[in-house]
Parts: sequence; C-alpha cells; structure tokens
Amino acid sequence: MSEDLNALHEDAAARIASASDATALDAVRVEMLGKKGRITALLKTLGGMDPDTRRSFGAQVNETKQALIEQINSRRETLEREAIDARLQGEAIDVTLPGRGLEYGGAHPIRRVIDRISALFGTIGFETVEGPEVEDDYHNFEALNFPPNHPARAMHDTFYVGEGSRVLRTHTSSVQIRMMEQREPPLRIIAPGRVYRCDSDRTHSPMFHQLEGLYVARGVSFADLRADLKAFLSAFFEREVKTRFRPSYFPFTEPSCEVDIHYEDLNGRAGWMEILGCGMVHPNVLRAAGIDPEIYTGYAFGMGMERMAMLRYGVDDLRLFFENDLRFLSQFQ
Ligand code: FA5
Ligand code: MG
Repeated sequence: MSEDLNALHEDAAARIASASDATALDAVRVEMLGKKGRITALLKTLGGMDPDTRRSFGAQVNETKQALIEQINSRRETLEREAIDARLQGEAIDVTLPGRGLEYGGAHPIRRVIDRISALFGTIGFETVEGPEVEDDYHNFEALNFPPNHPARAMHDTFYVGEGSRVLRTHTSSVQIRMMEQREPPLRIIAPGRVYRCDSDRTHSPMFHQLEGLYVARGVSFADLRADLKAFLSAFFEREVKTRFRPSYFPFTEPSCEVDIHYEDLNGRAGWMEILGCGMVHPNVLRAAGIDPEIYTGYAFGMGMERMAMLRYGVDDLRLFFENDLRFLSQFQ
C-alpha cells in the first residue's frame, strides 16, 4: 500500500514540476485532489480498514495530500512569476541602445562647382540667372548668327523636340539673347544650366552643364575678357594654372577663342583640356537683341562644368558624375 502511495506521489510530483502552464498544472491537481481524484479515492478507502491500519495509512495519505498541495502552490507561483518576467522582457525598451544614425546628404560635385563659380563671379558684380532647357531655334541658333546650314544645326548633333523648331538647348548661349532682350546695358550675368548634344565618351556626355558669362557695357575689350577669366581661374583652382588661349571660331563672337588648362592626372596622363569657348559678342548678335554695337561692346564665354569639376577634383572620367554611385559622391562631402 505505502509503496503504491510513494509511486503515486513521485508520479504526481514529476508532473507538477513539468507542468508548463496553469492549465496543465490544474489538470494534475484535479486528477490527484479533485472529487474523483486518486488521493480522494484513497481517503475513501479508509472507512473499510481496521483502526490501526486506518490511523497509520490515513496519516500517510494526508501527508502526501498536504505535500502535493504545497508543491502545486509553489509550482503555480513559479509559473506566474515566469509569465510576468516574460511579459516584462517582451515590453522592455532598452533606452541605452545607440541610435540608428542619420545619413547626411550633400551637394553633388557639379552643384558645388556651379555654386562656387556663382559666388566668385558675384564678387565682381555678375548676377546668376537661368533660361529654359527646351529652346526655340531662334534663341539657340538664329539670333546667335548661326547660318541656316551650320553643322551644329544637324540632327546628328542636336536633339530636336517634336515636329516644330524646338530643341534641347545645345549651349547656354541662348540665355545671352534672352537677357539682352529683357535688359539694358550695362549687363553682367552668368547663366548655369543643363545642355544637350548627341555626344558620348570620357570627356563628352549627351547631357552636361555649362555656365554662360556675358558682360555688355561701353568700352568692354578683349583685355577685360582675358584678365577676368585669368583672375577667375586662379581664384577657382586656388593655384596658378597653366592656361592656353587658342584662337577659335563661333558665329556669335568675333574674335573668338577657346581656353585650355594643362592637367596631370593620377594615372600619369598629362595634356590640355578645353574648358570654355569665349570671345567678343558679334555685332550682329547685339543688333538682333536690340543693342547698338556702335555704342556698346561685350564679351561672352561658355564654360563646361564637368570639365571644371574634373580638373578641380582630379576626376579622369566625366561619366562618374552621372552614375550616382554613393562611393564616388560621398568623397565630396
Ligand atoms: C559652346 O558651347 C559655346 N556656346 C561657348 C561660347 C559661349 C563661345 C560664349 C563664345 C561665347 P563649345 O561647344 O566649345 O562652345 O562648348 C563649351 C564647353 O563646354 C567646352 O569647352 C567644354 O568644356 C564643354 N563641353 C562641350 N561639349 C561637351 C560634352 N559633350 N560633355 C561635356 N562637356 C562638354
Ligand atoms: Mg569647343
């Protein structure tokens, strides 16, 4: 009898200890101590026993019952504490965790170059203005003294828009015309912006940025053009750069030249890079814009922004400026 009781106690104790939640624990309690429970059943057998056996066996059963009640209560407390702990852990906020951090953006290198040039020309009285990227034939070519059969007007150089005479401007020189139409001399403006040509290699891109400069007043000379550009270039590069003024031709300037800058890059390449075209505004252009060339003269230039960025930052392929690779762009922040 008492061996059965011991076995029953051990069995019940093991199941209490392994009960994983309140429901499992209650099932063990009902099976042992409920109205039809195994301990209850044993207590019911006491009535049929002789007094000595009843006294000793009854005491053992009661001891076991008491022990099981305590074990069940203690297991219940443990389970409740574990449940609370789990909930606290789940809801905890670790205020000591470091933040995820902010990604800082920054201006694109071409933007930085344009802003820097605007600021430098601002110091000698040039105002920064803008013109449209979709231009008409008149402002992009005709008013700039391009003859009707000029090669720049050919389809293989220029992007035409729709059926009419609209083009994606091939240079910022169209803004010269717009400003001369709108304002009276003296006139000092720079006009940065995107321009478009059917062109693509290491130093040419189908979309690139130019910055136009225009100075129209009484007595403006080629010496002014040369002096202003030289002063600008050494301020921009923060060092003396070797420059070359090379005679050239544009229909809208006379005389005309192009300016090259000597460079040596990290791959051991050295040479001259053309950065701008310039010249004295052609009398026909002044006249088309309603300015009397007998009274006023002017100089103009058109500078390539990608080329300026390549030279300033030592970048040897201008296509890098348009790939939007953050490993490249973040080096300029
Ligand atoms: C012009 O566009 C003239 N409008 C410049 C000008 C303005 C002359 C005012 C006189 C008076 P050109 O086609 O050479 O000229 O272009 C000027 C500069 O833009 C070049 O020196 C070069 O730096 C840059 N450039 C030209 N084509 C590209 C291209 N496909 N990709 C990148 N940069 C270019
Ligand atoms: Mg050129």
